[in-house]
Amino acid sequence: MAKAKPYYAPGSLSAAHYDAVTAADARLAGDVDIYAALAPAGGSILELGAGSGRLTCGLALRGFDVTGVDIAPAMLAQAEMRRAALPEDAAARCRLVRGDMTALKLGRTFDLVICPFFTLAHIPAGAAWRNAFASMAWHLAPSGLAAVHLPRREIMAMPGPSRPELPVLDVPVETGRRLRLYVRERSFRDDLGKLEQVLEYEVVDAAGRVVARSPERLTYWMADPAPFAEVAGLTADRSPVPLGGVGDIWVFRRG
Ligand SMILES: C[S@@+](CC[C@H](N)C(=O)[O-])C[C@H]1O[C@@H](n2cnc3c(N)ncnc32)[C@H](O)[C@@H]1O
Repeated sequence: MAKAKPYYAPGSLSAAHYDAVTAADARLAGDVDIYAALAPAGGSILELGAGSGRLTCGLALRGFDVTGVDIAPAMLAQAEMRRAALPEDAAARCRLVRGDMTALKLGRTFDLVICPFFTLAHIPAGAAWRNAFASMAWHLAPSGLAAVHLPRREIMAMPGPSRPELPVLDVPVETGRRLRLYVRERSFRDDLGKLEQVLEYEVVDAAGRVVARSPERLTYWMADPAPFAEVAGLTADRSPVPLGGVGDIWVFRRG
C-alpha cells in the first residue's frame, strides 16, 4: 500500500487514537502493576518510549517520581495533556522529555528503567538495541532494574487476519464516532526477526461516513535481548514475566 505514514508521525491517527487503541487492548492489562512492583515505594523510574503517558502518569499517581522520554512530538503532546489533568502532587512527580533512547544522557540515575509495550521492538535489533541497552545501564542506580517488554517471536511470525476487509478493532471514540482498525499488510522476515505491517485507521461518523482514513506503517524487530543486556553490564534478574499471551517483560539488573 503506497503512502503509508510512519506510526506516531505528526498528524497520524495512530498518535491521535493511541489511548483508544491501548484502552481496548486486554493484552496490556496489569502492566502498570508489574512495573510498580519492580521499584521501591516512592522511588524513581525512567520510562523509555513514554508515548501518551499511559504508564508515566499512572506510575506518578502511585507515588513514584517518573521521567518519560519519547522521540515523537505527537505522542509527547498527548502525554503533556494527560500530565496536565493529574492532581497537582502527581503532576509534580512526572517529567516529560523529548529524546532518543539510543542516545540519551539525562545526567542522573533511576531505581528502575522501563521500556514498555514493545518500544524496543520499534528499532532494529543491532547497533540500535546495543545503544538502547547502554542508555538503560547509564541511567540505572547500582542494583537498579531494567524492565523491557518485547513481543514473542512466534506471535510476530503469525499471518495477518484471514479476512482483511474486517476491522480488528471497532470502538467508539468521540460523540457518535467510531474508530476502526484494519490490518492491510503483514509480513515477517524470520532471518531478520522483522515484522512489517500496514495498519489502516478509519474514523466513521454516526451515519457511517468515513471522516478520516490513514494507512500507517508499523515495523517491529525481535531478537534475544539477553546478549545486548550483557554487553551493557546488565544481567537477567528473573525469568521473563509473561504479559497478555503475546509478549514478555524481561527484567535485568545492573551489577
Ligand atoms: C507502543 S508505544 C509505547 C508507549 C507507552 N510506553 C505505553 O506503554 O503505552 C512506543 C513508543 O516508543 C516511542 N519510540 C520509538 N522509538 C523511540 C526512540 N528511539 N526513542 C524514544 N522513544 C521512541 C514511540 O514514539 C512511541 O511513543
